[in-house]
Amino acid sequence: MQDKVFIFDTTLRDGEQSPGATMTHAEKLEIAAMLDEMGVDIIEAGFPIASIGDFEAVSEIAKNSKNSVICGLSRANFKDIDRCWEAVKHAARPRIHTFIGTSPLHRAIPNLDMDQMAERIFETVTHARNLCDNVQWSPMDATRTEHDYLCRVVEIAIKAGATTINIPDTVGYTAPRESAALIRMLLERVPGADQIIFATHCHNDLGMATANSLAAVEAGARQIECTINGLGERAGNTALEEVVMALKVRNDIMPYATGIDSTKLMNISRKVATVSGFPVQFNKAIVGKNAFAHESGIHQDGMLKNAETFEIMRPADVGLSETSLVMGKHSGRAALRAKLKDLGFELADNQLADVFVRFKALADRKKEVFDEDLLALMQDADTSAAYDTLQIKRLRVVCGTEGPQEAELTLSVDGVEHTVDATGDGPVDAAFNAVKMIFPHEARLQLYQVQAITEGTDAQATVSVRLEEDGKIATGQAADTDTVVASTRAYVNALNRLILRRQKTAPDHDVKSVSYRDAG
Ligand code: KIV
Ligand code: ZN
Repeated sequence: MQDKVFIFDTTLRDGEQSPGATMTHAEKLEIAAMLDEMGVDIIEAGFPIASIGDFEAVSEIAKNSKNSVICGLSRANFKDIDRCWEAVKHAARPRIHTFIGTSPLHRAIPNLDMDQMAERIFETVTHARNLCDNVQWSPMDATRTEHDYLCRVVEIAIKAGATTINIPDTVGYTAPRESAALIRMLLERVPGADQIIFATHCHNDLGMATANSLAAVEAGARQIECTINGLGERAGNTALEEVVMALKVRNDIMPYATGIDSTKLMNISRKVATVSGFPVQFNKAIVGKNAFAHESGIHQDGMLKNAETFEIMRPADVGLSETSLVMGKHSGRAALRAKLKDLGFELADNQLADVFVRFKALADRKKEVFDEDLLALMQDADTSAAYDTLQIKRLRVVCGTEGPQEAELTLSVDGVEHTVDATGDGPVDAAFNAVKMIFPHEARLQLYQVQAITEGTDAQATVSVRLEEDGKIATGQAADTDTVVASTRAYVNALNRLILRRQKTAPDHDVKSVSYRDAG
């Protein structure tokens, strides 16, 4: 039997904290269900005190959980911990995670000296443990905390009842050798360290998060904290798919088992990319579009003779379909159902009927419909909902070498249709101006990104739009063979999400007023 390494996924907490990665309630539930099903041991479902939306999402994820432990984050005070417990207590296996910044820089924020902070840690972990028998404690910025003080506070947390001690590299500063030495030092010096699980939580600012996590495991850590696609603030967190596949493929030198079904990696990666609005870079390890592509002549020749020449894992190991059946306008419903199943979507008859209509419309415009097109179609089905406040009914743009360009738009706002004509510096600008005329708003465009998803002049464009309003950020995505249509739909999609955020965030529970700065 190999030692087990627990996989702790924080896509819905640390990942969602990434500016612009806000997910809707329904999306969070869906992702949590996928994580549970793929064998994630612990799901950090959110930060319950941060907002009513976070609280409700954590509660519902807890209620729906099957095998995974459901964890919520709380700062080091009783109010946070109580709120966290209220949310996670519905789970079959709840966990409270509480943290405080222990490095000199972080200690200065709540203005506590070393003794006062030690006392706070004892009180808060004891309080959490009185509520729940599964408690995780984190000394935030552990990798920049004095070793003697780190040993002291870890010992206090263990004495107060913490069952998991997480060692965060909050600013992505450590390196593999140091990451391992820190865990080894704690295991050697802290009384009771052999009775608890050490976790590693790495950020990727220097591109070493995966290496640092694996080094910590080799030194004795038995929980890796990570996110799908490495989603997270700044350069992100350790990528779940990378550590899972590294432990699987190099099990000869890292003999540790995880309970993850790796064939589900690709689907959840796509899902998280879609709902977060953070596309996966093409050459991203494991889940990037090019991760298994072999274009150079030498590679292709080698691959045809023996796939192992250049492949250390099979596409199927991560859930990539090996059949590349191309669909077209003559493909029927059964073929579409089979193809979508292959791509990880099992649809009910009514859902299939809806997707089939959209597929036919696309196939009429495009000779061949590739996997990527179908994924974009499914993503569109995901991001546009019948209950959206704003819905595009018609769009017509006039372009030419002589500006300004014009857009005629009919937009439904809460079910009432409005039509306007607008001009702009280019057709996309004209269309966006038309949206603003019908639905005036102060949201600022932070990002506008266009990507062709396949080759050819009839390729679909995927457009991502990020908007910011009063510190709230929302991202929208859409795909279409017409770039202007895709852009306008992505813009309206982002606005719908912003409207949702406006409605969901009550002023006294605004996430902005609950920052890590008040971690004490
Ligand atoms: O990076 C960090 O320190 C965190 C803690 C809250 C665990 O995310
Ligand atoms: Zn973090």
